[in-house]
Amino acid sequence: MEHYVVKGGTPLVGEVEIAGAKNAALAILAAAIMADEPVTVENVPDVSDIRAIVGAIAEIGAEVSHPDRHTYVINGKTIRYTEPVDNDAVRKIRGSYYLIGSLLGKYSEAQVALPGGCNIGLRPIDQHIKGFRALGAVVKICPPGLVEARADELIGSHIYMDVVSVGATINIIMAAVMAKGNTIIENAAKEPHVVDLANFLNSMGARVRGAGTDVIRIKGVDHLHGTEYSIIPDQIEAGTYMYAAACTRGDVTITNVIPKHLECLTAKLTEIGCEVTESDDSVRVVAAKRLDHTNVKTLPYPGFPTDMQPQIGVLLGLSKGTSIVTESIFENRFRYVDELSKMGASIRVESNTAIIEGVEGYTGANVKAPDLRAGAALVAAALSAQGYSDIYDIHFIERGYEDFPEKLRSLGGCIAKVDNADEERKAINRFNLKVVS
Ligand code: UD1
Repeated sequence: MEHYVVKGGTPLVGEVEIAGAKNAALAILAAAIMADEPVTVENVPDVSDIRAIVGAIAEIGAEVSHPDRHTYVINGKTIRYTEPVDNDAVRKIRGSYYLIGSLLGKYSEAQVALPGGCNIGLRPIDQHIKGFRALGAVVKICPPGLVEARADELIGSHIYMDVVSVGATINIIMAAVMAKGNTIIENAAKEPHVVDLANFLNSMGARVRGAGTDVIRIKGVDHLHGTEYSIIPDQIEAGTYMYAAACTRGDVTITNVIPKHLECLTAKLTEIGCEVTESDDSVRVVAAKRLDHTNVKTLPYPGFPTDMQPQIGVLLGLSKGTSIVTESIFENRFRYVDELSKMGASIRVESNTAIIEGVEGYTGANVKAPDLRAGAALVAAALSAQGYSDIYDIHFIERGYEDFPEKLRSLGGCIAKVDNADEERKAINRFNLKVVS
């Protein structure tokens, strides 16, 4: 069975380049169908979630070309949208719900399968639906798990979000950009990918103001035109390498990043004793010694991201003293703790809080990635551990990390993707040769 084999104990050292932001790309590719002209999207990460949404866009008839690994050209003019957007891939990813907003915004109707995504909590879409209804759509959930939204005409509205939701904010923006009149979204999410989506739509002629603050104002326009746009770097991929560097007591420069988006991650690393140096588009993380404990609570941006909670949990599991991690966004995000315990971590979970007693080091073990980010965090744990680890269910990790083993190997990490015992033996031989030389 496909899995990663890891030999731990080598500090990660060197330079790694970050890909485009997966979550921004999912929204932007969905929004790209809203023009009837070619839209070029660059710096798209080559990960399985992206391939799933691009497949869905092609399936509804949009013209899609892929001139290079990180660029898509999409033209929504050819869409012949008669069947609901529904297949296994659409149901597996979270970002497919952005097709509800973009199709509704463009055609005043959408039928899209309910989204999937990582099993990290209930993940309702009531706020999306509330927004679509406020714009005048009739929204129903029909068997077999389809969201159906229809409007005679979408009309701008004043919408107050009950919870800060990235997905709902983005979906409502897309539904509102071509609605008649003005829309105001209050208590909007402020994540960098909300801003990126707004900038992208504005480059197509939309009038979205205030993205990045909690009040977003949209003036409806008649149509959107073609554009060329480059996606922002992935804040969570960057953070994962920063924290993996710290876990292995390494020295890694992470390039092609926007340091401002990483501030809360940098602040926590500095607080526990790492050296972090920022330059214009890179950050260098040096962790020469065992780090200190701290407390952290996940919050909407600019707070500490829930998508970095497993990574900091793994790091604090190696730090001195007792740390407390509180998960306030998703209720099911500590499933990595049982796996990490197999590596020797000492963590007790009580409700939405993990009480972590730092240990001197982890030991290699066989573990399963419970979801995307937790899987990446377990890889960081394995790279820091004494001995070998096998990490299964890596399809979760491949949803969001481009070339994960390759990038880690370029930093000196002993990690390989293998499919059987023979490949595993060969990989281990290569690791050992490297250590001897
Ligand atoms: C997005 C990201 C995910 C990240 C999360 C929070 C994508 C594809 N996924 O997920 O990686 O972990 O933001 O940064 O971009 N909620 C409701 N009702 C709703 C919508 C959300 O109650 O209609 C709640 C959720 O249960 C959660 C909170 O709001 O407690 C935040 O969720 P949200 O920001 O919507 O997350 P996603 O968009 O699903």
